[in-house]
Parts: sequence; structure tokens; C-alpha cells
Amino acid sequence: MAVLITGGAGFIGSHTCVELLEAGREIVVLDNFSNSKPEALKRIQQITGKDFKFYEADLLDRCGIERVFQQNEIDSVIHFAGLKAVGESCHIPLQYYHNNLTGTLLLCQVMEKHKCKKIVFSSSATVYGMHNTAPFREDMPLSATNPYGQTKLMIEQILTDLYRADPEWSVALLRYFNPIGAHKSGLLGEDPNGIPNNLLPYISQVATGKLKELAVFGDDYDTPDGTGVRDYIHVVDLAQGHLAALDYITGNTGVEAINLGTGKGYSVLDVLHAFEEACGKKLPHHIAPRRPGDIATCYADPSKAKQLLNWEAKRTLADMCADGWNFSKNNPNGL
Ligand code: NAD
Ligand code: UFG
Repeated sequence: MAVLITGGAGFIGSHTCVELLEAGREIVVLDNFSNSKPEALKRIQQITGKDFKFYEADLLDRCGIERVFQQNEIDSVIHFAGLKAVGESCHIPLQYYHNNLTGTLLLCQVMEKHKCKKIVFSSSATVYGMHNTAPFREDMPLSATNPYGQTKLMIEQILTDLYRADPEWSVALLRYFNPIGAHKSGLLGEDPNGIPNNLLPYISQVATGKLKELAVFGDDYDTPDGTGVRDYIHVVDLAQGHLAALDYITGNTGVEAINLGTGKGYSVLDVLHAFEEACGKKLPHHIAPRRPGDIATCYADPSKAKQLLNWEAKRTLADMCADGWNFSKNNPNGL
């Protein structure tokens, strides 16, 4: 019996493949490389010394998904595949809705046909919207401010309805906070296309000299130093959370939304200074206007994950920056 990992060549997916293989699980990976490279798969093999089946396929192609289920005994799915850039989703909303929603619908239809009813879905803290106060708890009201966030809300709803219609389904909706860092080997990490939108990849490229200086988006928020506060979580901790969620859904039917965060908030300047420690140099930055759509403070109440999954994040911000920098300096041009 194997676990299907959609989007397994991506940032979080590739780290999760490593953790699953190291735990002795059989995996099958599906990806269309729209935001990743085949090299990530080689690196997974290099780290683990283990082989796995890979399908270059698009979730929008039902036949491609069918082939995976016909040729393998898939008993559960971890569904990472999706488009994820908030800003881009506002410019090309139809592509985001089509890719994320249609891809998920086709995947679930094929799963249902093959009586595979266990799914772990990559949701996001973005579903807490603009109007809740941190720490965010799973039972808070949800909302979205952009098409990307809407796709996460809609998919949470689709999977919840699926369980309501057929209680044999077992669904974990994992709401990630801000995943950063890299595998400690320096072989796997985040490799965004073009100029990064997210803080850590941007800082890393300032550190490698690819970008000139960081723009800090706003220093007038109601936070200790005025800059935005987020719950950064090491990608390996996050990957291990998926293993725990998989164990949970194997033993329980139902649908559970679960935060994967550390419960600690760090400001943009905290992160910048931690990264400067890790790379051993000062990094140029300036204060810029707020970025539209950003909230002041976002961090998790991680107690449900601890209680239900017996999982909690262990790695510190210093670990995240050290591992992130190790990856960037070894792979200045990405994977
Ligand atoms: P990523 O872009 O690195 O990985 C996603 C992978 O899915 C890529 O390899 C891409 O090629 C693949 N993919 C996309 N559409 C596909 C399709 N139609 N068919 C087949 N493959 C497809 O992103 P990531 O950071 O690893 O994120 C994984 C998931 O977690 C995404 O669903 C994302 O929305 C969610 N998430 C990410 C973050 C974050 O900050 N990284 C935060 C919250 C939630
Ligand atoms: N920031 C800067 N300069 C930059 C980039 C970011 O100051 O160049 C600041 C932002 O204003 C924010 C913080 O750094 O205060 C973190 O920003 P990111 O873009 O790294 O992350 P976000 O919290 O905005 O968004 C991330 C993911 C979303 C996800 C959200 C909630 O990108 O997909 O977390 O999970 F929805």
C-alpha cells in the first residue's frame, strides 16, 4: 500500500517525501513541474537512498490520475499540488480556480472510484482572514481576501461535504503557518521562480548577493517593533506533521482542521537579524510602505495538533535560518 503525494516535487512536498521514506513508507509522487524541477526528486533519492515511483502528470488530466491509481495500490493521498502565489492569484484568478479546484475535484473523483478515502490537504493560515485576533484557533470564523485564499476555503468545504455525504472518508485539513528553512543536508530547500514574494527566499537572495536589499513592508503595525509578525515553522517540522496526520487519518474517519504552526510570532526584523546571525553578515534593508492585504500579526494556537496528532514543532528560528542559509549558499542558483 502506498501514499500518493501530489505536488511532491515542490518545497513542502519534497521534504515530506523524505520524512515518509525515512519512516519506511511506500510513496508514489505525482507532479507536473509547473513550479518545481525534476532535480528535487533526485535529491530526495540522494538523501534517503531510497527509490520511489514518479508520474509526470497534471491533476487537470483525469487519465493521468487514473493511471496512477490503476498501476498502484494507493490507500491515502497527501495533496500538496496547487498554485500558491497570493499576488499572482489576483491577476490570473481563473487559472488559480481552475488548477486548484478542478485539480482537487478530479483527484477526489478518482480516489472515490478506487475506494481510497483518506486525504491530507494543504490548507493555509490565510483562511483566518483579516478579522481574527492571534493566536488563531481552528474554530474561528473563516474568510478569504484573494482568489488563492478562496481556493483553500472552497477545498476545505468540498472535502467537508464529501465526508458528510460519505462517513467513510477521513480528511485532515492542515492549516500551515509560514514554512521556511530547508533540509539539514543542504540538498533540498525552497527554490522560487523569479523574484521571490515571500520573506525568507527574498532575504536569502540578498545574502547570496542576487538581490540588493530587502524592503520591509511597513514599520507602523501594532506589533512590538512595528513590523509584521508571523509564525515561521521549519519545513522539516511541517513535513513531520504530515506523517502524524497520516497516522491519525489511518485510525479515524471524519474531518479535522488542524493548525501546523509553532505558536510563536516573530517580526520581520527578528527574522532578518536571525538570518544575519546565520550567514554572518549584515544585510541591507529599508522600510517600505505596507503591502496591501497583509495583516499585522498571525500566529497559531498549536494545541489541537499536539492533542490530536501528538505532534509539535521542535526547531527554533535560529535552526530555520541556519538550514535555509546552508541550502542557499550551496545552491545559489536553486535546484
Ligand atoms: P510548491 O509550488 O513548491 O509545490 C506545489 C507543487 O505542486 C509544485 O511542485 C507544482 O509543480 C505542483 N503542481 C501545481 N499544480 C499542479 C497540477 N495541476 N498538477 C500536478 N502538479 C501540480 O508549493 P509549496 O510551498 O510546497 O506548497 C504546497 C502546498 O501547500 C500548496 O497547496 C500551497 O498552497 C500550500 N501552502 C503553502 C504555504 C507556503 O508558504 N509555502 C503556506 C500555506 C499553504
Ligand atoms: N515581507 C517583507 N518584505 C518582503 C516580503 C515579506 O517585509 O519582501 C513581510 C510581509 O509584509 C509579512 C512577512 O514579511 O509581514 C511575511 O511575508 P510572506 O510573504 O513571507 O508571508 P505571508 O505571511 O504574507 O504569506 C504566507 C504565504 C501565504 C499564506 C500565508 C498564511 O505566502 O501563501 O503565509 O499562511 F497564505
